[in-house]
Amino acid sequence: MTRQTVKLSALSVAALAAIGFVWFGYRGDNAPTTAQTPTQSTPTPKTNPAPEPIPFDTSQYSITDPASPWVIVNKSNPLSPRDYAPSDLRAPNVALSASASSARMQLRDQAATALEAMFAAATSAGHMLRVDSAYRSYTYQKTVNDRIVAQIGQTAADRESARPGYSEHQTGWAVDVGPKSGGCNLSACFGDLPSGIWVAENAHRYGFIVRYGKTQEAITGYTYEPWHLRYVGVALATEIASRDMITLEAFFDVTGGTTYE
Ligand code: DAL
Ligand code: ZN
Repeated sequence: MTRQTVKLSALSVAALAAIGFVWFGYRGDNAPTTAQTPTQSTPTPKTNPAPEPIPFDTSQYSITDPASPWVIVNKSNPLSPRDYAPSDLRAPNVALSASASSARMQLRDQAATALEAMFAAATSAGHMLRVDSAYRSYTYQKTVNDRIVAQIGQTAADRESARPGYSEHQTGWAVDVGPKSGGCNLSACFGDLPSGIWVAENAHRYGFIVRYGKTQEAITGYTYEPWHLRYVGVALATEIASRDMITLEAFFDVTGGTTYE
């Protein structure tokens, strides 16, 4: 091969490469694989109206059966029968202020499980809680109520203690909680402690509501009890929390009030 031929061959290869580059075009990684269409005006999307929120189904559970987690017990709605006693009580595996074998430390199984989850979360958040009072039989509620009436008189007692047959504690769905170390137990000041604030803000995640709110005595019949939690299940507790802690009575449009039926 002459030097001339080599030169010509080299030139031919270079020319072919150049033609190929122009013909196929340079393709980067993000090069579109289809031809670009000319820009068109985007059609206005059809606007569908926002879907209506599905209303909370208030008929899922009974509000009169004492075995129901939604039962409403107040001065206008006693337990029926008055001496009702739940069947599946057990002590939650948490800090208790009395022996686990004592009925007054026990709750319905479902509520006990929920309380265990709530106490575990409270502990993780740095709040050590204990159970101060839970289930109370008709007879025990009578003992408690009689003592308070003797101490402060009927009128004052009726604002803070239910008469036997009228207490949520008799359902096994209610529990009084307070600081494990003591201080502000069963007192309004619990609501101002970090642990009380945590309870008010988080109890609904575990199915509990603070049943007797600060400004709700005319409806609930009782003064503020930041320690008294009532198990109603996560769905209802969360719905109530989303409605600024509306009372059970207002939520279900049921009679409450400060006077006995
Ligand atoms: N302290 C609440 C109202 C009760 O006695 O059930
Ligand atoms: Zn209570």
